[in-house]
Amino acid sequence: MPAALPAGHAVPTIAGALAGTGTVRAPRPGAAPAASHLRPPRRGPCGVDARMQPPEFPATRYQGSKRKLAAAIARELGARVDFESALDAFGGTGAVAYRLKALRKRVTYNDLHRFNQLVGRALVENDGATLPLEEAERLTVRRPRRRYDDVVARCFEGVFFTAEENVWIDVTCQNIHRIADRRRQAVAFWALFQSCLVKRPFNLFHRANLALRRREVKRSFGNKATWDRPFRDHFLRFVATANRAVFANGRVNRATRHDALRYPRDDFDLVYIDPPYMNRRGQSVDYLDFYHFLEGLAVYPRWEPRIDGRRKHRPLVHRPSPWCDRGRIHAAFAALFARFERCHLAVSYRGDGIPALDELCRLLAGINRRPEVVPLGPYRYVLSTGSASGEYLLVAPRRASSRPSTSARGVIGCAPVAPSRKGR
Ligand SMILES: C[S@@+](CC[C@H](N)C(=O)[O-])C[C@H]1O[C@@H](n2cnc3c(N)ncnc32)[C@H](O)[C@@H]1O
Repeated sequence: MPAALPAGHAVPTIAGALAGTGTVRAPRPGAAPAASHLRPPRRGPCGVDARMQPPEFPATRYQGSKRKLAAAIARELGARVDFESALDAFGGTGAVAYRLKALRKRVTYNDLHRFNQLVGRALVENDGATLPLEEAERLTVRRPRRRYDDVVARCFEGVFFTAEENVWIDVTCQNIHRIADRRRQAVAFWALFQSCLVKRPFNLFHRANLALRRREVKRSFGNKATWDRPFRDHFLRFVATANRAVFANGRVNRATRHDALRYPRDDFDLVYIDPPYMNRRGQSVDYLDFYHFLEGLAVYPRWEPRIDGRRKHRPLVHRPSPWCDRGRIHAAFAALFARFERCHLAVSYRGDGIPALDELCRLLAGINRRPEVVPLGPYRYVLSTGSASGEYLLVAPRRASSRPSTSARGVIGCAPVAPSRKGR
């Protein structure tokens, strides 16, 4: 059964979803029909998107997303290294991989988590598959004679979403798992993940705090109207958003799922590294704790046995990550740099983190690199005064001849350099 709408709620339509409003909107005279969003991008001779101007990367709600910095990162990389192929080793939302794809690079998106691999498949690997909204709408209702499991309804009762919403998620998720075309399926998953995120306080799953969402109090955060809007509305709107973001760059791009430390290949020209950030106090983002619910949806048939039922927010049982352990994070960076020793390396990091920037430079010196440290974004001015905060990009081109490093002399190259002016 489709979820019932709350009293007084305007009936959402597919046209409304396309217009981004979720409600009916009359077309402007002479305007292209809304359904034009559903058409795959026009293709040039080699399957390249004939518009050339790639679509805008969709806004996402994800810890550590580089969406706002992706243009600057791509510009700095383009100015400093020559590359055709690139691995985004900690892909997350895919914002950087997507930007490199727009530069017509051969891009491999990677992330440890299955839900993120699906995100990368939808927006980076995908070169033309869109999901018609009529089909998307059918995903939100029970199919006759099909048996459905109820993992969310049973295991997450009263945790993140209402009982009615839990049933909607169970049904929609299992319908999505049955889509045969994996790129279309990834588009549907992307929309499902975004729908779950926007309906969560803080856009996270680290607390069992459904009550916070439902309480009738004045709040300084979140958006109750967004939380209360039915899942189906959000889902259709996000499918339309993902459809618009799909484009081809004439290359074969891929989305993979590996631990970056054990990546099976090292034949990329460039490896971009944006691991979980650890702050000066040693606190880090445990991505599987924050986003376990999305990972569960991505592995739905195998989800239940992995749930830690002793904890209120029902995370997945998982081993602690070296990126969240101040005793192991330096060794993790060193191992990663050694793993991709043959490639140009670029690292996104914050000036006030662990390891500190000069420590990262020393680790890169261990593979005979002299990185340039490029301050990014609005923090540039502050950084030029010597303050150690804000976002940096460390760019360490591979050397034609490599010499083993015996000291931290390579760190000399670690002084912040002016960002490139080219192409701004
Ligand atoms: C700081 S976020 C990357 C953000 C990304 N650049 C963006 O713009 O959205 C770090 C990412 O690393 C992933 N991750 C954590 N441990 C990993 C590992 N061992 N190998 C690969 N990815 C990992 C997390 O799932 C998370 O998406």
